[in-house]
Amino acid sequence: MGAKSMAAIKEVKPVKETRRVGAHSHIRGLGLDENGHAKFVADGMVGQTEAREAAGIVVQMIREGKMAGRGVLIVGPSGTGKTAIAVGIAKELGEDTPFVAMSGSEIYSSELKKTEVLMQALRKSIGVRFRERRTVYEGAVKQLRIAYVKHPFNPYVKVPREAEIVLETTDDSLKLRVGEEIAVQLLQLRVRRGDVIWIDAETGEVHKVGRLCSESRYDISAYRCVEKPSGSVKKDKEIVHMLTLHDLDVAYAAQRAAVASFLGMPITREIPSDVRQRVDEEVKKLVNEGRAELVPGVLFIDDAHMLDIEAFSFLTRAMESELAPILVLATNRGMTKIRGTDIEAPHGIPLDLLDRLLIIRTRPYTAEEIREILKIRADEEEIPLSDDALEELTRLGVERSLRYAVQLMEPARILAEREGRTKVTVEDVKKAAKYFVDLRESVQYIQQYEEKLLK
Ligand SMILES: Nc1ncnc2c1ncn2[C@@H]1O[C@H](COP(=O)(O)OP(=O)(O)OP(=O)(O)O)[C@@H](O)[C@H]1O
Ligand SMILES: [Mg+2]
Repeated sequence: MGAKSMAAIKEVKPVKETRRVGAHSHIRGLGLDENGHAKFVADGMVGQTEAREAAGIVVQMIREGKMAGRGVLIVGPSGTGKTAIAVGIAKELGEDTPFVAMSGSEIYSSELKKTEVLMQALRKSIGVRFRERRTVYEGAVKQLRIAYVKHPFNPYVKVPREAEIVLETTDDSLKLRVGEEIAVQLLQLRVRRGDVIWIDAETGEVHKVGRLCSESRYDISAYRCVEKPSGSVKKDKEIVHMLTLHDLDVAYAAQRAAVASFLGMPITREIPSDVRQRVDEEVKKLVNEGRAELVPGVLFIDDAHMLDIEAFSFLTRAMESELAPILVLATNRGMTKIRGTDIEAPHGIPLDLLDRLLIIRTRPYTAEEIREILKIRADEEEIPLSDDALEELTRLGVERSLRYAVQLMEPARILAEREGRTKVTVEDVKKAAKYFVDLRESVQYIQQYEEKLLK
């Protein structure tokens, strides 16, 4: 039992990859030009220009640090792109700014207290950036050979044993032989020739920086294209880690939980408040010493009318604290009761919170906008539509709702496929609309029976 067995259980970060096509997967940003004007179609966004431009201003304010402790409320009818705009804001802010998305109803759905759910969400949306100097091997992968052995318990599975890798910079080249833990990471990150990576000399952690621009010309991989590093392969590098306050809370609480379980004390899923206080103190100390930086991110709460009075007062108080993220709320309600009370308020949100929010409005779409959005979604879901199918879906989008039209696309594709066609026709769309009714129809249908029942 030495250092070797310790290293054998080193955690390997999973590769970020989502194959599922989510409802907002086509949104890549807000689609603004350098002057902040919205282009009609850009970054997967269509129309809704005023709201997008307003969101662009918010993004700039967040970047300039002018939004901390304040918030934004996005209001508009259902299906007008409120959630899409919040996703656009997240994309514009980029990966360096924490962005946490939740729905108002999530506060009821777990075994945790409502305020604990919110507290964790708030702390996930505040980042702490640490800088440290580390020795690393960095370069473009010139050669990579991974040696496998049979899995000890399953002879049909091969597991990596070690790897030989040649890293190259514009001035240097170095051959490394690395052990199993690094070989596994190389596989998980799908490192191949032409990738630029660095390996922490001490911990063995592997990072993929990107792919050489000369290699990625015909490549649609998600990694950005980078130039070949210069200098020697082995070097000191300033490394920036981003953790959230919640990560630190969890790490600190886990330490204590280990001790607690050793002593036979009960462990709760809630993070004790003195843990948070300790973390805050430590972080403030690091910030004062110039070793860390606070990065207030965004907490996005969709369907904010689902929050109740307790949650709202907690949020209002949290916004006033020193370490507060930027709050983005969205709702499709007008005048309605604040949950948990008999008090009517605009959007079901207490006035003292509303007072701190900038309000962005989304408006219903024109047929032209709906047609463009449907085209983008059809592309995203890889559903070829005939022209008249697109027209029929557009009509349904205008008459019923955009979301209804979007949801009919996949059933229509399946109907087309059963007929041995790849392209969806107007008949497929009409048939799909017959099978799957919209909300208005489903309510009418039930009411019709209720009336009969009462007679
Ligand atoms: N301007 C737009 N450009 C591109 N896609 C859009 C746009 N507006 C909405 N969409 C897409 O249309 C669908 C419905 O929009 P979204 O979910 O954002 O509506 P919403 O305003 O949040 O509705 P709700 O109030 O019901 O939550 C989503 O798939 C969304 O990505
Ligand atoms: Mg929404």
